[in-house]
Amino acid sequence: MNSIAVCFVCLGNICRSPSVEAVMRDLVERAKLADRILIDSAGTGDWHIGELPDERAQKAARKRGYDLSKLRGRQVAAADFARFDLFDLFIVMDDANAAALAAISPPEHRDKIRLLMEFATRDDSRVVVDPYFGGEDGFEKVLDQCEDACEGLLKALRAQMTA
Ligand code: 4NP
Repeated sequence: MNSIAVCFVCLGNICRSPSVEAVMRDLVERAKLADRILIDSAGTGDWHIGELPDERAQKAARKRGYDLSKLRGRQVAAADFARFDLFDLFIVMDDANAAALAAISPPEHRDKIRLLMEFATRDDSRVVVDPYFGGEDGFEKVLDQCEDACEGLLKALRAQMTA
């Protein structure tokens, strides 16, 4: 079986992508695939570099057993272009993230950029809406969407690794 590396990308890397990183890590660890599936996250913006995830995201995640406290905001950077070879997939939350990433991606790697909600099976939303300027219910919705989509993503990765 091959290994695979996934980078989750949102705007700030303090709400959605740390949440999905934690959900996916938990699934992958429970599936005993942590040495096969490498997981990272980043933001397209630079406002929150080095910061802890948003307190509301941490609180909502903690209630479901996910720990975001080890994560720190980081921006997708020039170094990631070198790492485009390392990353097999860049999983983005919305169309703006996809466009920002495509703009800095070498053309031959653009097909690695995919929307997270493509992998969901219960929720047919196209995107994970930014919860930053809304209320706490937005963070619960993000986690619901992440849990749904990560199950589908894990299935897709298993298939890709054994192909
Ligand atoms: P995220 O949410 O992209 O899910 O991390 C945001 C966090 C911060 C900002 C926007 C979105 N901001 O404008 O600072």
